[in-house]
Amino acid sequence: MLKVRVLGSGAGGGFPQWNCNCDNCAGVRAGTLKATPRTQSSIAVTGNGVDWLLVNASPDIRQQILSSPVLQPARAKRDIGIRGVLLIDSQIDHTTGLLMLREHGEPLELYCSAMVYQDLTTGFPVLRMLDHYCGVNWHEIPIDGTAFEIAGLDGLSFAALALSSKAPPYSPHREDPHPGDNIGLQIVDQGSGRSVFYAPGLARIEPHLEPVMHDADLLLVDGTCWTDDEMARRGVGTRRSLAMGHLPQSGPAGMIEALQPFARQRKVLIHINNTNPILVEDSPERAQLGAAGIEVSYDGMELDV
Ligand code: MLT
Ligand code: MN
Ligand code: ZN
Repeated sequence: MLKVRVLGSGAGGGFPQWNCNCDNCAGVRAGTLKATPRTQSSIAVTGNGVDWLLVNASPDIRQQILSSPVLQPARAKRDIGIRGVLLIDSQIDHTTGLLMLREHGEPLELYCSAMVYQDLTTGFPVLRMLDHYCGVNWHEIPIDGTAFEIAGLDGLSFAALALSSKAPPYSPHREDPHPGDNIGLQIVDQGSGRSVFYAPGLARIEPHLEPVMHDADLLLVDGTCWTDDEMARRGVGTRRSLAMGHLPQSGPAGMIEALQPFARQRKVLIHINNTNPILVEDSPERAQLGAAGIEVSYDGMELDV
């Protein structure tokens, strides 16, 4: 079996964002919108229901674990069902939670690319800080689609695909993008052959992703923004979705259109920004997604693959 649990379906900032009074954030806070709060971007995957891989460690990890009893098998005074942590990039919303895991009894088994490891030992030296607590056992992952395994996650295999993107502002190679700054992750159930493709940061469906996505049974992909200029439209900033490495859903060549060829696959959006109108369950944008056969993930959602 391969199961994905969505721990955090929101983008950086979560929903509502602490300092945001956009229509969505103000509305969900006031209870006047048909919408549910969301924590920041993370999933957990398991092949046996007991041993889990944490994929991304969000600043909300503590709350996410407390709301997921399945992650706490309670076999000892100090215990957790998480056998390892895999990072798809070195962004704050995906890595800050590592600090919250410092009470771990043994070094954390950490899987990430060489580029992500570099950022997390220089510009954002969270791994150096953890050396003073539980420590980290780093496993460099290949980023060319070569399959690899993760100790404790028996029956599953993994492959990382480099995505064209940019490292975070604090990266020493921010202005000099490298393969491995951001990856898409394929997770395969070796028993059934069924698989997931997970990419919460996806600026476009590059040719090397197509075969993996066509093979997949579940596409769990970037749901950050509805339009490229959404932040400006909402009056909360000027950053554009595509410039941040996130393909907006609507319009020509948007995510809805890009997902159309994947008719057989279950399609679910994740990493949804608080400005996105699809967060409102009775919005026309949400209806448009539904008509295209695309779902919107929520915290605690379980996906059996
Ligand atoms: C992103 O997904 O673009 C980043 O997480 C944004 C951020 O957290 O600043
Ligand atoms: Mn993010
Ligand atoms: Zn907002």
